Amino acid sequence: MEQSLVFIKPDGVERGLVGEVLSRFEKRMIQVKRAELRQLTPEEVDSHYEEHVSKPFYPSLKEYILSGPVFLMVLEAENVISIIRTMVGVTNSAEAAPGTIRGDFALTMQNNIVHASDSPESAQREISNFF
Ligand code: CMP
Repeated sequence: MEQSLVFIKPDGVERGLVGEVLSRFEKRMIQVKRAELRQLTPEEVDSHYEEHVSKPFYPSLKEYILSGPVFLMVLEAENVISIIRTMVGVTNSAEAAPGTIRGDFALTMQNNIVHASDSPESAQREISNFF
């Protein structure tokens, strides 16, 4: 079994999309192992996005992720990482296919509604950063 760390970003929580996004995973028979609505700390955000901290978009990304609570989930199924990334759609929501979470609920690169782990190594690191 594989696990993925997924969170609904502050604008998704604010817009009332937690139930909609969570139900897509549940209907797909993906198991919810942990779920928590929580305001992240600046340290958790820096650690989570360690590969992006020196990038020009990082100050804006950090402000966005700290702008309100996020809905954290640990999801489990066989091959769950790639299955979820397909369900979520490409990073730039403007190019995300209809039927994906970003393609249905988001418009921009930064405010792309959800984060999902991109590899088993990242998933382990991200899960232990938050739980
Ligand atoms: P996420 O999948 O959480 O990983 C990094 C986040 O940075 C990404 O979603 C976006 O919210 C944000 N971001 C903003 N600009 C960029 C960019 N040019 N490339 C990648 N991610 C970006």
